[in-house]
Amino acid sequence: SPYLECSQIRDRLCRYKNYNFVVGHATPEYIDSLQSFEIRDSDVFLVTYPKSGTIWAQQIIISIYELDGHVNKDSFNWQKMPWLEYKICEYALRPSPRLFTSHLPVHLMPPGLKDKKAKIVYLMRNPKDNVVSYYHFSKAFADLDTPKSFDQFLEWYLTGNVAPSSFFDHFREWHSSRDQYNILFLTYEDMIMDLKGVVKKLSSFLGKNPTEAAIDQVVEKSKFATMKNNPKANYEQIPREKFSGKFLRKGQIGDWKNTLTVAQSERVDQILQEKLGDLSLKFIWE
Ligand code: A3P
Repeated sequence: SPYLECSQIRDRLCRYKNYNFVVGHATPEYIDSLQSFEIRDSDVFLVTYPKSGTIWAQQIIISIYELDGHVNKDSFNWQKMPWLEYKICEYALRPSPRLFTSHLPVHLMPPGLKDKKAKIVYLMRNPKDNVVSYYHFSKAFADLDTPKSFDQFLEWYLTGNVAPSSFFDHFREWHSSRDQYNILFLTYEDMIMDLKGVVKKLSSFLGKNPTEAAIDQVVEKSKFATMKNNPKANYEQIPREKFSGKFLRKGQIGDWKNTLTVAQSERVDQILQEKLGDLSLKFIWE
């Protein structure tokens, strides 16, 4: 069994081919089957490291597609734009254009994406806000191991012992493979600072040319307050016993300052420098 190639990291986390998956959420067999997953030219994949603003970008992309009458009878965003690695229905039977979400590393993605026709949007967030958001999520989500403290979680995060892998490796692998894909890189901070600009950029990447009014409509639907009140977009239908937190928690840049000590912040800086320093990335921290 391919399970033999998995190593248990913690109670709820297994590693398979440099991919950490939550026990019960994915299986090695299914992950391997994606190597023959048929890609359509019209497919769109949103790829993120968890807690980078995934459900925000989902809402934007779905809203852009709905502008031109892309009818989807599913009700929730997780059904309209399901995670590739968590099979919720027979994806081959879905009508085009298919919208997908994924946290997978490049090496496990369907090879057909290298035809460069299907589109990929890669969203990233500064790792200090990212780790704080992930910490709160891990405490609230029953399927994940509960960290004893922020310090413990930070250690798991910095050593890559969280799903789906290390933040640093995830970005580096996607970034260094960018020439093989039709890919647009975005950041959470771009979205906070200029949501309308991001909606325009995304629309044009997705081959759409919405009117100014239509763009404003997408912006309105994607605002934190609007999403928070939209049961299709806010992920609040998850039973409380499974998830006791909020996907739309604070929605800010710089919340890490309320959590990280100076020493912890410096440790992130140091690992960031070691792992991604050569890329000269310009993170927005506040
Ligand atoms: P915080 O926990 O810092 O508040 P993901 O969707 O990848 O799980 O990411 C969740 C993070 O994105 C949360 O961050 C959440 O508040 C933020 N987020 C979701 N929708 C947002 C929006 N419309 N505006 C700003 N932030 C948003």
